[in-house]
Amino acid sequence: MIPQEIIKTKRNKQQLTAAQIQQFVRGLIDDSFSDSQVAALAMSIYLNGMDTSEIVALTLAMRDSGKVLNWQGKLNGPVVDKHSTGGVGDKVTLMLAPMVAACGAYMPSIAGRGLGHTGGTVDKLEAIPGYSCSQSLAKIEQVVSSLGCAIVGQSSELAPADRRLYAVRDVTATVESIPLITASILSKKLSEGLDALVMDVKIGNGAIMRTIDDASALANSIVNTANGAKVPTRALLTDMNQILGSTAGNNVEVLETLDYLSGKYREPRLHQITLELGANMLMLGGLFSEKAKAINALQQSLDSGKAAEIFAKMVSTLGGPADLLEKPEQYLLPAFVVVDIVAPSNGYIQYLDTVGLGMAVVRLGGGRSHPSQKIDATVGFSHIQACGSQVQQGDVIAKVHAASEQAAKLATVEYLAALQISEKPSIAMPLVHQVIG
Ligand code: URA
Repeated sequence: MIPQEIIKTKRNKQQLTAAQIQQFVRGLIDDSFSDSQVAALAMSIYLNGMDTSEIVALTLAMRDSGKVLNWQGKLNGPVVDKHSTGGVGDKVTLMLAPMVAACGAYMPSIAGRGLGHTGGTVDKLEAIPGYSCSQSLAKIEQVVSSLGCAIVGQSSELAPADRRLYAVRDVTATVESIPLITASILSKKLSEGLDALVMDVKIGNGAIMRTIDDASALANSIVNTANGAKVPTRALLTDMNQILGSTAGNNVEVLETLDYLSGKYREPRLHQITLELGANMLMLGGLFSEKAKAINALQQSLDSGKAAEIFAKMVSTLGGPADLLEKPEQYLLPAFVVVDIVAPSNGYIQYLDTVGLGMAVVRLGGGRSHPSQKIDATVGFSHIQACGSQVQQGDVIAKVHAASEQAAKLATVEYLAALQISEKPSIAMPLVHQVIG
């Protein structure tokens, strides 16, 4: 069939067959679909949707456009991963990977860079001098087999069709399509050769999906598609109406991770969500049938120091310093300027614009406004007071880390504009709104 017939089928709101979808995905790799034809089909899918069988076919074809990691007979436990739809201050993958590895699971995590207002796990890890997220598949397999986890970046060998489709979607207003987002995320995740996947679908004023309805539509699509592709998957809809943890920015988030793993400080919301996601990974992977026991094992991985030890080994094996946990300040340098942000009045903190806070980190230089931009890992916010904290006028509610006094002033204005100090505490949103799957 020629490309325009496939496009016409979807334009006319008809179902595409698996063979037509496979031909399209082949066309992404061998250029038998031109950019305008890819864009036309993406727009037809954006406007007319896809049913679950079409999304499964698209996901599997995109997964199979590259290599798929194969762990069969090589490991003594389940291969699991988690994926977040993106938030501000979300450093959970950094702690979860060594924690689930310490509990007997294996986590080959192919992570992403920051996108829009959201931070990226790869950018955080690359803040560690020497750490390289570009690793060969052979190296990933070797590190996961020996340590239990490896967090690395996207490789051109895994799901290459998504790379071309995503680049076209990015410039044709077709990113916000649930079938296309589902296939894009899952094709990459399923190329890791997983036995189970846990999705963290963020909702709220710092998330891509702002409402429960939108978030649960995406979560249902991902869970149904992954299950259709025979990978048991569960989605947790979690709150993103404030920064997760007490930092946002690359060096400060790695420092928070090290404090978390060593037990120096564990911000309560960050700890709860890490345990919730981790427990679901261990249960779905078949290591535990009771959540309380899975949580206990995760807590034990922290208390025994085993998770911190695995993280340290992963960092040094992938090119970082061997003594990062002992001497973090030697490697994760402070910003040129660090300034207190103080409460303008008495009351209770509520964050109204967490996307604005993510964009403030980007404007400080901690994220990119165009793809080739170099990130300044030293900038961001730390000492962030959680929603509902009671403060007096003049109390420190956060610290801004900036490259100049002027940038710090602007970020302070942006920080204060994103919050409200009210007379009464707002009703706290549940950290986990819903579990699907
Ligand atoms: N993340 C992805 O990997 N793909 C999308 O389409 C959206 C978010």
